[in-house]
Amino acid sequence: MGSRIVATGRAVPRTALTNKDLERYMDTSDEWIRSRTGIGQRYLMRQGESLAQIATDASRTALERAGVKPGELDAIIVGTVSSEYGFPSFACQIQHGLGITSIPAFDVAAACSGFVYALQVADAQMRAGDFKRVLVVGADALSTMVDWNDRRTAVLFGDGAGACVLVTEPGNRGVLASLLRSAGEHWTLLSVRATGTRSTIDSEVRRSPDDAIQMKGPELFKIAVKSMEEVSRLVAERAGVKLDEIDLFVPHQANMRIISAVAERLGLPAERVFTNIDRYGNTSAASVPIALDEALEQGRIHDGSIVMLNACGGGLTWGANLVRW
Ligand code: ACO
Repeated sequence: MGSRIVATGRAVPRTALTNKDLERYMDTSDEWIRSRTGIGQRYLMRQGESLAQIATDASRTALERAGVKPGELDAIIVGTVSSEYGFPSFACQIQHGLGITSIPAFDVAAACSGFVYALQVADAQMRAGDFKRVLVVGADALSTMVDWNDRRTAVLFGDGAGACVLVTEPGNRGVLASLLRSAGEHWTLLSVRATGTRSTIDSEVRRSPDDAIQMKGPELFKIAVKSMEEVSRLVAERAGVKLDEIDLFVPHQANMRIISAVAERLGLPAERVFTNIDRYGNTSAASVPIALDEALEQGRIHDGSIVMLNACGGGLTWGANLVRW
């Protein structure tokens, strides 16, 4: 018995800000942001918007498409580092939003790798026979944790949520293999204190620089490329799949230059790599499920397609899931 993704959904905040719009807030330019990152716009939370609501909307779409009622779920597992509360978990807030009770709901904290981690946890528990239908969500709002005066980080992040419904199924479709890795010795390359004030782009209260996301971009860049390449090779080997058999590579959308470098090292041509960073920026744990949802919508994935999901983020954490659709 394996687990198969039967449907996906996504939702984002109402406001899209282009690079040009950001020029009003800081000394930056569309040319700099596009050439260094590939980002053209991102969706940003505003005052009064709730990420839990956005994640619940994405979950409802996935459930409706799957033909699964919320009450038929056995568990909710959420990759996130953006809960407004130390507790309850973000998963419990989504559970409440879906109007269901009693099933286990919990978060997995692995920053940008959160969805890839959560999918591995769900798949393992489903293989063990614990659950038959699981909602896996990736949701983050890192824009609420940046210092809006720090142009090196503030331009990178967007907010949103992606969700998928997994069901257990016999046969050879579904998650073939997953591999997770962490390197805590690099934790200072990307971090944020848990106590900082949430500060949307339109709020008067600002995070103090010490409480905002701290990032060592160039160091991160190098490790991200190396680790995403390495874990891709390892997970493919574990699943007995050759890299040239991958029909679609769906990486975390952190930076177009990272994605291109990883794809080049793996020998994957551009048409087999999915990117939407130009419209979303880096949505952290939401990035892979949002990309997956768009890839499906665009007809880039068919029955039998071999799809690799891959991410790297704060922790440092990284990982990959190889899926036969
Ligand atoms: N607009 C204009 N100029 C800027 C901006 C901006 N938004 N940000 C930085 N600059 C300037 C800097 O001040 C610097 O100017 P200086 O040389 O006069 O001091 C110059 O641009 C170069 O700055 P660097 O930080 O060296 O720029 P770099 O080429 O390394 O690109 C970037 C920075 C895009 C952050 C890159 O390092 C990167 O993408 N790293 C990976 C980080 C990442 O993706 N983090 C997301 C989370 S981790 C993950 O998801 C994998």
